[in-house]
Amino acid sequence: MRQDIKSSVPLPGFDVRHGDDQPRDGQAFTPPVKLDIRHVSFRYGDEPALTDVSLPIYANKVTALIGPSGCGKSTLLRVLNRMPDLYEDQHVEGEVLLDGVDILGHDIDVLTLRRRVGMVTQKPSPFPMSIYDNVAIGMRLNEELTPTELDARVEDALRRAALWEEVRDILKDDAQSLSGGQQQRLCLARTMAVRPEVILLDEPCSALDPISTAKIEATIEGLKPVSTIVIVTHNLQQAARIADYTAFLYLGSLIEFGPTEQVFENSVDERTSRYVTGRMG
Ligand SMILES: Nc1ncnc2c1ncn2[C@@H]1O[C@H](COP(=O)(O)OP(=O)(O)O)[C@@H](O)[C@H]1O
Ligand SMILES: [Mg+2]
Repeated sequence: MRQDIKSSVPLPGFDVRHGDDQPRDGQAFTPPVKLDIRHVSFRYGDEPALTDVSLPIYANKVTALIGPSGCGKSTLLRVLNRMPDLYEDQHVEGEVLLDGVDILGHDIDVLTLRRRVGMVTQKPSPFPMSIYDNVAIGMRLNEELTPTELDARVEDALRRAALWEEVRDILKDDAQSLSGGQQQRLCLARTMAVRPEVILLDEPCSALDPISTAKIEATIEGLKPVSTIVIVTHNLQQAARIADYTAFLYLGSLIEFGPTEQVFENSVDERTSRYVTGRMG
């Protein structure tokens, strides 16, 4: 299943010369980098949560962030759309280049950034308004759509979030009346509706049954032609199923990054192999 990935392992020292995913003459193609995370360190007050983390997030690929609870996965996602800006005691160092431009710079318009880099948080946070309005709000602010177009886009986003069948008759109901798992899918629909270039998903399936999980995984796969996806998951099978690349974090440091099959089956670091085989955390 992951043969395509294995054959395109971007081994150090490889000379990238070909403009497609096919290896030729032993050469591997490395996809374009959408987000280049360079030497990112992060502190909550005096407590370090990330230490000198560097990795590429490849365009139109799914990258999974894995690692034991508390290793900094959510923190790294939050840095990628400048959530720490909202808190005085959260300090970021380093650079994150989005299409080559440092998004941690002072001159970056954070609202524009968050339209380009959308995030679905671990704990669902629907706005205090109807189900329909939760999905429509971003489009109303950013696009000029007719009511018919807006209805269609809301339905499309809710279908892709595997929620449409459950809410189609109660779109005017308060979003807070939904269950936790439904709220999580609603937030996913809200984020996908504005079609961000990068979508950050923090454990999007943690409260979902296997059927909804399969639907969300299919949706993530379907987003790849138009978006770049970073997903935090504690479900290793899920990472193996959907991620093209996997990053293993441990105690705030990046231990290993590479094509998913390589990280899972051919780990370079002992800590990675212990984690992916269930002998740690
Ligand atoms: N708001 C916060 N204030 C202080 N420390 C925090 C806060 N959020 C997370 N941390 C700490 O930062 C570390 C990384 O947390 P987090 O990124 O949430 O880990 P993960 O998502 O991998 O479980 C943990 O030690 C956690 O306790
Ligand atoms: Mg987390």
